[in-house]
Amino acid sequence: MKIAIDGPSASGKSTIAKKLSLALKIPYLETGLVYRIFGYILKIRNIPLENWELVFEEPIQVVPEIGRTIVIVENKTINEEELKTEEVGKYASQLGAVPEFRERINAFFRSIINEKQIIVEGRDAGTHIIPEAPLKFFITASPEERAKRRYEQLKALGKDVSYEEILKQIQERDKRDRERPQYPFRPAEDAMIIDTTGKTPEEVLEYILDVVKRFPEFSQRP
Ligand code: DC
Repeated sequence: MKIAIDGPSASGKSTIAKKLSLALKIPYLETGLVYRIFGYILKIRNIPLENWELVFEEPIQVVPEIGRTIVIVENKTINEEELKTEEVGKYASQLGAVPEFRERINAFFRSIINEKQIIVEGRDAGTHIIPEAPLKFFITASPEERAKRRYEQLKALGKDVSYEEILKQIQERDKRDRERPQYPFRPAEDAMIIDTTGKTPEEVLEYILDVVKRFPEFSQRP
């Protein structure tokens, strides 16, 4: 059984995907982490963005597990904290803006997935990575709610941030994503749109679990 989880930034989709993976015991592919590992390689190898193809020459292994995705470079598991920095995020985002890179990475994702049971989380999950998935969720929330969540997250990390500034960034990023000519960001036509504004992750998870468990393929799975 394949499940796609998509949604805009700071919608809480990673939190939900992780919890769903643990609850259903289905491996989880966090695509953002894989974008980040390629961004990390761009950085540590000093590769100019126009030579992005070189990142695919690196011996990378991506292993979707229950509740987490493991990335291995040269037989060494890379610590998530090393990848979840703002700097690595910036490199990942630059790569993500190159349409040919997206085609390559999507093909890479599909080669990992094959016929496996999997939860794929991230942009393009339902539209380009596993469009064949029978269950697709598009997790969203109002820009104000997403800004509030991001603000609280950063505050908790001790960062000096402004709510207004974060809201502005989220609104600008949404607009850029929607309007880009290639790979515009939108839900798959058959995705179930879940607005999480005012809901806790637990409430959202409960709702999704209910949908999944009523789905015929769920009871037929090996
Ligand atoms: O979800 P994240 O913040 O870890 O993602 C890091 C960057 O990678 C983000 O700036 C956008 C890009 N990305 C993407 O373009 N498509 C995905 N499916 C996942 C991430």
